Amino acid sequence: MAAGRLWLLLPLLLLLCDGALPRGPSVGPRYSPDWASLDARPLPGWFDAAKFGVFVHWGVFSVPAWGSEWFWWHWKAEHRSDYERFVSTRFPPGTTYADFAPRFSAADFQPEQWAQLFQEAGARYVVFTTKHHEGFTNWGSKASWNWNSVDTGPHRDLVGELGDALRKRNISYGLYHSLFEWFHPLYLLDKKNGFKSQFFVAGKTLPELYELVLRYKPDIIWSDGDWEAPDTYWNSTSFLAWLYNDSPVKDTVVVNDRWGFNCSCHHGGYYNCQDKFKPGTLPDHKWEMCTSIDVRSWGYRSNMQVYELMSEFTIIKELVHTVSYGGNYLLNVGPTKEGTIAPIFQERLLALGTWLKINGEAIYESKPWRIQKENCSDEIWYTSKGPAVYAIFLVWPKDDVLTLSSPVLSASIQVSMLGFFKPLKWQSSPQQELQVLLPSENRWLLPFQHGWTIKLLGVS
Ligand SMILES: *[C@@H]1O[C@H](CO)[C@@H](O)[C@H](O)[C@H]1NC(C)=O
Ligand SMILES: *[C@@H]1O[C@H](CO)[C@@H](O)[C@H](O)[C@H]1NC(C)=O
Ligand SMILES: *[C@@H]1O[C@H](CO)[C@@H](O)[C@H](O)[C@H]1NC(C)=O
Ligand SMILES: *[C@@H]1O[C@H](CO)[C@@H](O)[C@H](O)[C@H]1NC(C)=O
Repeated sequence: MAAGRLWLLLPLLLLLCDGALPRGPSVGPRYSPDWASLDARPLPGWFDAAKFGVFVHWGVFSVPAWGSEWFWWHWKAEHRSDYERFVSTRFPPGTTYADFAPRFSAADFQPEQWAQLFQEAGARYVVFTTKHHEGFTNWGSKASWNWNSVDTGPHRDLVGELGDALRKRNISYGLYHSLFEWFHPLYLLDKKNGFKSQFFVAGKTLPELYELVLRYKPDIIWSDGDWEAPDTYWNSTSFLAWLYNDSPVKDTVVVNDRWGFNCSCHHGGYYNCQDKFKPGTLPDHKWEMCTSIDVRSWGYRSNMQVYELMSEFTIIKELVHTVSYGGNYLLNVGPTKEGTIAPIFQERLLALGTWLKINGEAIYESKPWRIQKENCSDEIWYTSKGPAVYAIFLVWPKDDVLTLSSPVLSASIQVSMLGFFKPLKWQSSPQQELQVLLPSENRWLLPFQHGWTIKLLGVS
């Protein structure tokens, strides 16, 4: 145990002394610290196969739990009167943001329960905020002094506990990490210097990133907070070259695209582009759409209204659009400061899990088909896997006949609907369209009411 700990510490000490980091055996391609080389790395296959993940935003912002996770910024940088009024009416005079940290209790946080919920939701991966723009680390970072979850608030290693629970259930683990911090004095100093100095990067950002990788061996690094400074300020390419060449996760880790301004949608691993990105055509690069059940916030807020939440239908629709266009869908929930996930969020996640239990065959491990959506309709979407083509229709046609004009029929065509054992009847229209006769009387036997999948074999 002690020796193991030393192993973890040693690289960090070396980093702090002279910038040296452990180098692994030189097998496989070695990447150089430039985008041409890093961008050419093939994305480890597990990520594209996974398709659906749950995003979790949890931090000190979950204590005021009001407005959004940008609470501190709205309050102290923008001086918004609604935030000032909120604090002055609900907290003692002189309250600072730091005073919220001890109230971040996590007293009801049961990582096993979260992991079970995410598994039942059908998530193949989870991305957790290790540190948001407020700078509070959800693990006992050596670069964080007392602004972390071990020294104050929960007094627990939240990053480690959640990771252990997820791995027991074979769910991949992604670590969200904000490069910048709104109010860190060293960051503000570098910013004042036009990002010509790197005090913050050397003392905070990079030590944290290396520490996260060596300690928690993440499957994803979900970088954020990059946009004010160039990637050369963040030393992104040298970190990624180390990650891909020498880190303990070099063969499996995937990263996103937020590594400095103008990187997003251009460089890195898969692309997030902007939050809630929705391409209108099939992108030529692996991407992920991140979005939140609460459409107005990523962190929990107590003033949320039910009409501000995504409906089950919207969630299924977005997942289907995203996967048809070759993306992964990352759906966010914000736990409370105690560590509970609001039952309305649980209900949405479980509804998606129920849908995926039957329709997941058309989602997980699927590939985009030749055509993404039927005849300019927003209601019928395609995916494929091996010889199978899946047509997912979001709205049940009034006459119980689903018309598909894109598949080219062969003599050996087979038509079925996921969730039913019996093949479906079909006919060919005079325009050679496939008309599937839907099992209307049995529709109500299925445990969901939005989005059904027709499986086609023998079509091209
Ligand atoms: C873990 O999950 C992956 C992806 O779903 C799957 O391919 C693999 O077989 C699973 N492993 C175990 C041990 O269940
Ligand atoms: C960042 O990269 C520059 C150029 O490669 C290097 O001189 C510097 O030491 C790096 N900083 C850190 C903190 O690793
Ligand atoms: C960033 O992108 C914008 C828009 O494409 C461009 O005008 C600008 O020159 C770019 N900045 C750098 C430093 O590459
Ligand atoms: C597209 O759908 C419309 C309305 O359903 C139909 O009239 C039209 O013929 C279809 N076009 C093709 C190319 O299938």
